[in-house]
Amino acid sequence: MKLGKKLLSLGIIASLVVGVTACSTPAADDSKKSEVVNLTFARGKDVNGSTTKLIEAFEKSHPNIKVHFKEMPADSGQNHDQLVTMLSSKSSEIDVIDLDVIWPAEFGQAGYLQPLDRYIQSDNIPMDKYVQGAVEAGNVNGQQYAMPRFIDAGLLFYRTDLVKNPPKTWDELLAQAKQLKGQGGTQFGYLMQAKQYEGLVCNFIEFAGSYGGRILDSKGNVVVNSPQTIKGLKKMMEIAQSDVVPKNISTFTEVESHTAFIQGQSPFIRNWPYQYSLAEDKKQSKIVGKVGVAPLPAGDQGSAATLGGWMSGISKYSKHKKEAWEFLKFITGPEGQKISAQYGSTPTYLPAFDDKDVQKSNPLYANKNFIEGISKAIPRPVSPVYPEISDAMQIELSKAIVGQQTAEVTVKNIETKLKAILKQ
Ligand code: GLC
Repeated sequence: MKLGKKLLSLGIIASLVVGVTACSTPAADDSKKSEVVNLTFARGKDVNGSTTKLIEAFEKSHPNIKVHFKEMPADSGQNHDQLVTMLSSKSSEIDVIDLDVIWPAEFGQAGYLQPLDRYIQSDNIPMDKYVQGAVEAGNVNGQQYAMPRFIDAGLLFYRTDLVKNPPKTWDELLAQAKQLKGQGGTQFGYLMQAKQYEGLVCNFIEFAGSYGGRILDSKGNVVVNSPQTIKGLKKMMEIAQSDVVPKNISTFTEVESHTAFIQGQSPFIRNWPYQYSLAEDKKQSKIVGKVGVAPLPAGDQGSAATLGGWMSGISKYSKHKKEAWEFLKFITGPEGQKISAQYGSTPTYLPAFDDKDVQKSNPLYANKNFIEGISKAIPRPVSPVYPEISDAMQIELSKAIVGQQTAEVTVKNIETKLKAILKQ
């Protein structure tokens, strides 16, 4: 339970709470017990087959419920926009929805999600056994709109057959990447996510954070225009514009970068924890048994990781809320989290870490570097207008990455736009 306790005590992610008002009660169930109810579960691209496994296990124990997997785009922003289009037109197409940790504030306020409190109470769900920051990410003004599924934090993965000592700083990373590029069949030195999308914001927060820069302070004030953030962005630009990354790095999301990594094309990659299991997947990976993990390289203020992860909620417009809750309870509960963990999704249900099979499936869960990486994670701004904040940042950061604008102008523009969005 060591790791569990450490995660439980994470104060950092406690700041994911947001205050928004919404109020409703679960709608009456419109299905009869004997009939088969068809549910639709929307979640992002299933890179390793874990969703199919979850659904199979659920259907086995719930023969009256069939779950259709609606695969959403891998890109979190595109996934978000498609969901908003469906939900804002009150479509009942989806019953259970996977939500990026940055969405519940917005979706809760918009009235897209069914409050879960009554279900949680009547089924005695032990909310105190979940990572508290993740529980709070799904809690909007005292109402629980989403249950935590898994937690993410940016990490550095490296090839143990090529890298002797993983780099401790960004400069060491750049030096090693230059030296190793071309060795052992590699074509690149480093892989990151630099497309104009949510992952770019995550990579930026890590660079800025490693030099002490933040977007908002603890009171929500825009503090992005600082010498620290500029330093971090300059390092990010230096790496993204260097010849250690693919020439088209500004088109890379997680999928492009993890694919190149498991093909054996790079000694280093920045990615989320699932990268480990994917690299160990014999069906897809050419680098099985050759992957190590370390905290992301440090700037002059240490190493910083962005906090990510996914929650699950029930659409307010679902016609099968009772069955949707059964599925949601399963995927976020002990059995579901155990299955997901075996595919590299870090549990938010803490007792899962005590499970022998979970421990065996991924050495990360007992690895102090992993715990270190997760425990330093920086949350993104929590706000019902987060998509606007993120879009403004993506546009400006993207210009910097491709060399169209300096770091100074970039953070100044982000400051102006964020202050306007947040009315400061
Ligand atoms: C991962 C994270 C999520 C983040 C996304 C960015 O899926 O869990 O929080 O927004 O990556 O690409």
